[in-house]
Amino acid sequence: MKEKIEHILEEVEKFTAQSKEQVEEYRIKWLSKKGEITQLFEDFKNVAPDVKREMGQKLNQLKTKAQDKINELKEKFESQSSTVSLDVDLSLPAEPIAELGSQHPITIVKNEISKIFEDIGFSISEGREIEDDWHNFTALNTPEDHPARDMQDTFYIQTNPEIVLRTQTSSVQVHLMENNKPPIRTISPGRVYRNETVSARSHCQFHQIEGLYIDTNVSFADLKQTLLYFAQRYFGAETKIRMRPSFFPFTEPSAEVDISCTLCKGAGCNVCKYSGWLEILGCGMVDPQVLTNCKIDANKYTGFAFGMGIERIAMLKYKVTDIRLFFENDVRFLKQFKSA
Ligand code: DAH
Repeated sequence: MKEKIEHILEEVEKFTAQSKEQVEEYRIKWLSKKGEITQLFEDFKNVAPDVKREMGQKLNQLKTKAQDKINELKEKFESQSSTVSLDVDLSLPAEPIAELGSQHPITIVKNEISKIFEDIGFSISEGREIEDDWHNFTALNTPEDHPARDMQDTFYIQTNPEIVLRTQTSSVQVHLMENNKPPIRTISPGRVYRNETVSARSHCQFHQIEGLYIDTNVSFADLKQTLLYFAQRYFGAETKIRMRPSFFPFTEPSAEVDISCTLCKGAGCNVCKYSGWLEILGCGMVDPQVLTNCKIDANKYTGFAFGMGIERIAMLKYKVTDIRLFFENDVRFLKQFKSA
């Protein structure tokens, strides 16, 4: 028995493994149920009593050594294999992000326009997309049966005809005037809805920016200068504007504003239909009756208002010829836009 122990001990001491599998192979060889060392413990029962103590010690030492050796080698291979399987050099710089998202062109244009007005003291306010009849129409001098309602095919809420999806951001004007004392100088960007057939030129949802300035002595000249300043900052210093008389129920007088064609600079091309001009917005002096509707003293205050379609401005700016592209969210379209 003694020789056997010494023989295995020698083997244990010399043992070095090349692989995890080999360690397991030796564990089985020595320590499994039928392993050589386990077998020796079986044989130990028959050892003569006078050498039992000595043999017992030797046998225990052998078992511990074998166990330690196996554990040590097992650990070595496990830690090696975990670094190998990671297979990553943590000191390398990170890969650049391949696809960086971009802002939607309507958001870009909305922010650019907002910034221009913010720079001259306009605040930004937002209203609600689901609106009541009063704010969308009646307070704006467009009572039921007024022919101007026909211009804005409206989505009504089926169960309550008093509630509409707003057809214009002019509704925000009413909230602002009802809830604030002049001076009021604010722009209101937002989404509006109209029951229109979707085509390259019109959509059932789009965005507008409304402008409102109410104070003492606000004049049409202030309106004209404000819009000229906007047009020249947004479309370039050489841009001209012209105002054409028009009609809106809530402004008097009312005008539509054209800018000189951004493409041909007024010479005439197919974008401006050879007129040299492009329409960009509607505007006017706030009708005194609207001020009164909103509990503002029309004898003391005057004001101007304007409203423009963001898609229209974006189409002119980026030469987009189909409004539907703004709502389809085709990434091939969207990724062409980068905000400043
Ligand atoms: N709300 C008008 C529209 O949707 C645009 C507009 C015209 C707004 C004149 C105004 C304005 O504030 O004064 O067609």
